[in-house]
Amino acid sequence: MVCLAQLSDLHVAARPLQGVVDSAALARAAVAAVLRAEAQPTACVLTGDLVDAGDVASYRLLAELIAPLEARMAVYLLPGNHDARAPLRAVFGRHGYLPATGRLDYCVDLGGVALIALDSLVEGSGHGALDAATLDWLDATLAATPARPAIVALHHPPFATGIGFMDRLGLRDGAAALQAIVARHPQVLRVICGHVHRAIAVGWAGRIGMTAPSTAQQIPFDPAAGAREAFVLEPPGWLLHRWDGATLQTAVLPVERSAGPIDYA
Ligand SMILES: [Fe+2]
Repeated sequence: MVCLAQLSDLHVAARPLQGVVDSAALARAAVAAVLRAEAQPTACVLTGDLVDAGDVASYRLLAELIAPLEARMAVYLLPGNHDARAPLRAVFGRHGYLPATGRLDYCVDLGGVALIALDSLVEGSGHGALDAATLDWLDATLAATPARPAIVALHHPPFATGIGFMDRLGLRDGAAALQAIVARHPQVLRVICGHVHRAIAVGWAGRIGMTAPSTAQQIPFDPAAGAREAFVLEPPGWLLHRWDGATLQTAVLPVERSAGPIDYA
């Protein structure tokens, strides 16, 4: 069984975001939720917006917060639009899967399943993009191991989610090319993303595309054209992807500890 936890959009910061979101405390709670899960993950991927301001001090704080996770499982980082490559590398250079230069694209083996991370960060912008080199590398990587199931991870969803103001800040370049690549490599099981701070599943390229909740603030699911650009202090969550050799299952799990389990009488 391959069991991959996904935490997303931690937006770690030393001070509360917008004065009300204590993202560091919420990230700590999310790490605790993963560690106490009944179905214990063997690896964890953080799908971007790791920190809010993209500075070295915030990445150091993130390193402290995820240390308990790293003590128990492999942890993989990929950047979102709030991240910055140089400070991320400065703090997490010991993460040997991260390329030393250029975009933070990589492929790691989770025990028979490839996790392929794509760097969609356009530094200084909210929207994302995949360049030709990343797309060519993905195509070649998938072509090299057609028998190995793969999960493709990137911050910006390459599909519409219905949250208009976030879709307008979506993957502006490379989405159609990514869709074509995924469509022609049947071993891609799922495309997993962050960015929209809410769990949404779509059919895309003949697969399931899935976004994760944020460990911090959530974004209302309001598909109206003029929906407010706003967040809600809804209970945060995370995703657990489990591959049993035949099916990849994704569970949406809460961070908060609740009463129970209570046995049925
Ligand atoms: Fe975010």
